Amino acid sequence: MRLYVNIDHIATLREARKTDEPDPVRAAEACERGGADGITVHLREDRRHIQDADVRALRRSVRTVLNLELGAHDEIVRIACRVRPFQATLVPERRQEITTEGGLALKRRDTRVREATARLARAGIRVSLFIDPDLQVIERAAELGATAVELHTGRYAHTWRTGDAALRQLRRAAAHAKRCGLAVHAGHGLTYQNVQPVAAIPEIEELNIGHTIVSNAVFWGLEEAVRRMRKLVDEARLMS
Ligand code: PXP
Repeated sequence: MRLYVNIDHIATLREARKTDEPDPVRAAEACERGGADGITVHLREDRRHIQDADVRALRRSVRTVLNLELGAHDEIVRIACRVRPFQATLVPERRQEITTEGGLALKRRDTRVREATARLARAGIRVSLFIDPDLQVIERAAELGATAVELHTGRYAHTWRTGDAALRQLRRAAAHAKRCGLAVHAGHGLTYQNVQPVAAIPEIEELNIGHTIVSNAVFWGLEEAVRRMRKLVDEARLMS
């Protein structure tokens, strides 16, 4: 199981003061020392946290792989094709949202996502689509030519304390995505408390986790926060 750490909130903290610390490049190094398999950042249209220069600097400095999250906007897709991260994850993006809300609503003739997927793939970038764990949407992602889907774990993150319906939905979706020939990733809202049942789903090969790791880094340091998440993910995998 690959653990990719989303370090957007390192840049959120820096942008709060419009200064030069904390530096996402140093943060990525700490994550890698703690056992991250990849570094994820979201270059938003409003540039509220990660900036273009961060993406370029991370592309040069990251020793594992860079996963760039982006909306299917022409300007951002162009930047991604120029920077050429290892992976691009297409996400829905609304300006006023606090964080990515819901997966991509893939329509049968979704020309925007189809074209963005094709452009990124032509640039040699592995393309993943962030979608809800919905069987029909998974089939559309496969039709659109994605290599992978990232299953939105937000519903699970909101409801795991009170029942396992969302976990069962994730399990069904992961199995279906695999049958459709897609690599299966997952993320959003995963924490030290709720990550293990998701990490134990055999078809899931990559987790993208940000907020809980950066939050706990305040107390434990970033390297240690990643190490503790790594341990939980590896344990869940061993026991499954
Ligand atoms: N995956 C995607 C597509 C996201 O947009 C985010 C949030 O930026 C994450 C994973 C990580 O979510 P969280 O910060 O809740 O761990």
